Amino acid sequence: MLFVEKDSAEKEILRFVAKFCGAEYEICENEEETIWCEKPVMKVGKNDFVASLPSILRYIAKSNGFKNLLGCKGACLKTPAEFSSRTRLIQESLTQYKTDLSKVLLGVSDLEQILSGPIVQHNIDKYQRQLLKHERELERKRDWNGELKGKQEIPLKKIPTKDLPELEHAFLEGIQLSISDLAAFLPVEKVKEKIGERDFNEKFPTVRKWFYRCTRIIQSKTINTDNSISGYDPVLLNEPIATQDFVVIARRQTPLKKISPALEKDDIKSDIHSKSSKSMIQKLELSAKVDLETVRNKLPSPDPYSHVAIPDRDKIILDGFADPAKGGLGKARTERKLLQLQNMVARLKKMDTKGKIIVDFCAGGGHLGLAAAKVCPEATIVLVETKEESLNRARSRIQEWKVTNVAICQSNLTQLNCKFDIGLAVHACGSATDQVIQMCLKWRAAFIVSPCCYGRVSDLVLPRSKEYQKRISSQESLLLAHAADITPVDESLTKTGKECMNLTDTDRKLMCEEKGYVATVYEMIPLSCSPKNNFIVAEPAN
Ligand SMILES: C[S@@+](CC[C@H](N)C(=O)[O-])C[C@H]1O[C@@H](n2cnc3c(N)ncnc32)[C@H](O)[C@@H]1O
Repeated sequence: MLFVEKDSAEKEILRFVAKFCGAEYEICENEEETIWCEKPVMKVGKNDFVASLPSILRYIAKSNGFKNLLGCKGACLKTPAEFSSRTRLIQESLTQYKTDLSKVLLGVSDLEQILSGPIVQHNIDKYQRQLLKHERELERKRDWNGELKGKQEIPLKKIPTKDLPELEHAFLEGIQLSISDLAAFLPVEKVKEKIGERDFNEKFPTVRKWFYRCTRIIQSKTINTDNSISGYDPVLLNEPIATQDFVVIARRQTPLKKISPALEKDDIKSDIHSKSSKSMIQKLELSAKVDLETVRNKLPSPDPYSHVAIPDRDKIILDGFADPAKGGLGKARTERKLLQLQNMVARLKKMDTKGKIIVDFCAGGGHLGLAAAKVCPEATIVLVETKEESLNRARSRIQEWKVTNVAICQSNLTQLNCKFDIGLAVHACGSATDQVIQMCLKWRAAFIVSPCCYGRVSDLVLPRSKEYQKRISSQESLLLAHAADITPVDESLTKTGKECMNLTDTDRKLMCEEKGYVATVYEMIPLSCSPKNNFIVAEPAN
């Protein structure tokens, strides 16, 4: 079942792609059941939902046997919009064709740029050599005089990469048709109708060619038994090699344009942990024209740290489905994760959880959420996580142990759209921790959050609290955050790192207090259970 907004672009795009894959889904425009997230949302199982256009597109292709539409290494539209310009293009710009023509026009300009730029694809030289081989064979066939016979040719393998022919950027992901092309097709068709064919062809010559190519595929496709697609006539488009899987290998006709850095493929990998080094700190000190020591001295000493009462913590037994070992961790990591969970869950147990909705944000394989489900059987736990592979580990644990009080939402945390009572997050990277806190403040929920990757913050007002804003600048706050990530062998630096971590979390705590919360920063015991061993607990004051 597909939950969509009435008359939305997403509804049209999803139906179009589903039809291409030979599937049809029941559409629901009213909320008959709790779907937890902003629409579009696909219900994929009992208490199991996939949200956002890119993730649903991936789900449709995969579950109908069209893995070949998921691009090189199956990564098409996998990276969330905040880290990938392509996902942003599909999810944010092109979906505006019903409401905001200028935004969608910008989107089509981006598409023109991508298609006029180079192909960023692993092993592309394999296809370039394939094209050369094909061209040599054609040349031989044309050579009636036998002039080529004696001609020495450099073996294909020995031709340096720089001398290989540039390939036509046939589709959005490179040389293979993917769900990105199918998702972009309808919006581009609407733009063409709105601005007229002449204007469209003049403004977007490369998109025009792409559009013509996609139209031919969509009109003529017949699906083979193995779900590859045939019926595409490469001769009509003068494309020398077109395989059944819609890999088009053709020599680039138009000169290559330099692609704008904003459109580079998947700019930042979403799961890189920031590793601040001594030199990074020195660079930041130079640009902020201040040293770390001075910044630390400008701030009040952090509160003495609180610890959860030890007997409570040790009594928490997380065997069965909540055992981290069942979530695919190795022995050493399981032991450490168990200690992290015991610390956080012991504090959760002190809250009123009966009948409450608890959200585990950035849930990964669901360690914390499943532990919460175990110790709070009368609460409903929602796991929110973008990565399908991680959630699959949680899914199989839930299934195997027949857990009934957990729902899954494969979604960006900012798309959660339901009132909840308690937010949890263990090691949500960088600004994800701050986004979790903002969501909890928005719904006036209590929270228990253990931050990670302190320096990996973007699009954030720094420092966070008014108290810190009076004392340090934004650059100084960033310096502090990067220093919090230093956990090298050098003892003195580790100590500094821990102190900066404490100062940064005190900033978070003060911000919550300014918003009417009672907040405390706790330390996990033993500290060795993680280099990121702080957690913040906050509850609405009244
Ligand atoms: C370091 S892992 C921690 C996973 C889990 N909490 C644990 O401790 O095992 C961080 C997780 O946050 C997820 N994540 C990051 N940003 C997210 C966002 N905006 N929305 C949902 N999940 C996100 C990542 O996919 C990753 O699985």
